[in-house]
Amino acid sequence: KKVIVLYGGRSVEHAVSLQSAKAVIASLNRSRYDVFLTYISPTGVWHYLGPAPEIVESLDQLIPETLSPQSVSQSMALFLEAATSLNDCIAFPVLHGSYGEDGTIQGFFEMAGIPYVGNGVLASSTGMDKETMKNIFAQHQIPQGQYLSVRKSQYEADTHSIVSLVEHTFSYPFYVKPSNGGSSVGVHKITGPEEFRSSVDDAFLYDQKLLFEEDLTGREMQIAVLGNTSSSLHPPKCSLVGEYFQEHDFMDYKAKYVDGKLVQSIPAALRPETADAMKKVALTAFEALECTGLLRVDFFVRDQERFYVNEVNTLPGFTPFSMYPTLWQKSENLSYSSLLDELLMLAEE
Ligand code: DAL
Ligand code: MG
Repeated sequence: KKVIVLYGGRSVEHAVSLQSAKAVIASLNRSRYDVFLTYISPTGVWHYLGPAPEIVESLDQLIPETLSPQSVSQSMALFLEAATSLNDCIAFPVLHGSYGEDGTIQGFFEMAGIPYVGNGVLASSTGMDKETMKNIFAQHQIPQGQYLSVRKSQYEADTHSIVSLVEHTFSYPFYVKPSNGGSSVGVHKITGPEEFRSSVDDAFLYDQKLLFEEDLTGREMQIAVLGNTSSSLHPPKCSLVGEYFQEHDFMDYKAKYVDGKLVQSIPAALRPETADAMKKVALTAFEALECTGLLRVDFFVRDQERFYVNEVNTLPGFTPFSMYPTLWQKSENLSYSSLLDELLMLAEE
């Protein structure tokens, strides 16, 4: 079986994708798969690099020394030519965030008739847009915090009214996030009016639409879901609940990927009824978005174990230390490499 792993990407999560992809490429079972690489630069130029090295030790092996000056569309045409000549290959987009986890590349594969791992167009795009995701979750009675979305054009046209609307809806502190975002980039906790403008201006650097959210910060827990919606052979199943302990006020980008100070606890210390109820909600979220392959559902758990869904990731972080693969290791003794086998199998179901 031929697998093309795609990584990097035109996204604020480019660097996270490289870490995830390095682990995926190193762990795909080479007696089962011929692995091929495609690096996508931060400006979106695709670099088809041919067969992967047998042993992957450093990121340098996965990134071309000189980036091609081609246009994005030329580079995509070359990718298609290469993928076509491989005959019967499957794509594995190990891409986080925009142009990778948001349905766009999935649409490209659909149109080209290339099977691919993970979520389809609809699940990816609804999972990426936090406002749309929350609207769908609300229809499914998934517990979540109060939220309000604001477009840049509205904010610029009448900043004063928007500020008072937000201050009427939420009490300080509350959160502001780019509606399309990832890895906490552009996310701010606004603790008082003096921080409003600067936080909102920064969040608008990443998206034209922002989401204000009630501060529900509590214990941070995650559930991994694996399977295919509507499949009778491989219906979605949940892992144990995992918990992150952190030293920071909330899990920001630096805490997630740089400091390495987060500690995982699996299974999280919870009453069994709470864990079961959370798993039910995770499955509802998976099915509400019509997910295929995988989903990580992130919760806040507050006093008396009241829990809320904070967000979902349709292609969660995939380093060996990331919660998604670790949850499967601890829940079913499923190794990282066998988890990849499952995802490839689900992609072809
Ligand atoms: N968006 C990153 C990769 C995560 O949440 O795991
Ligand atoms: Mg994300």
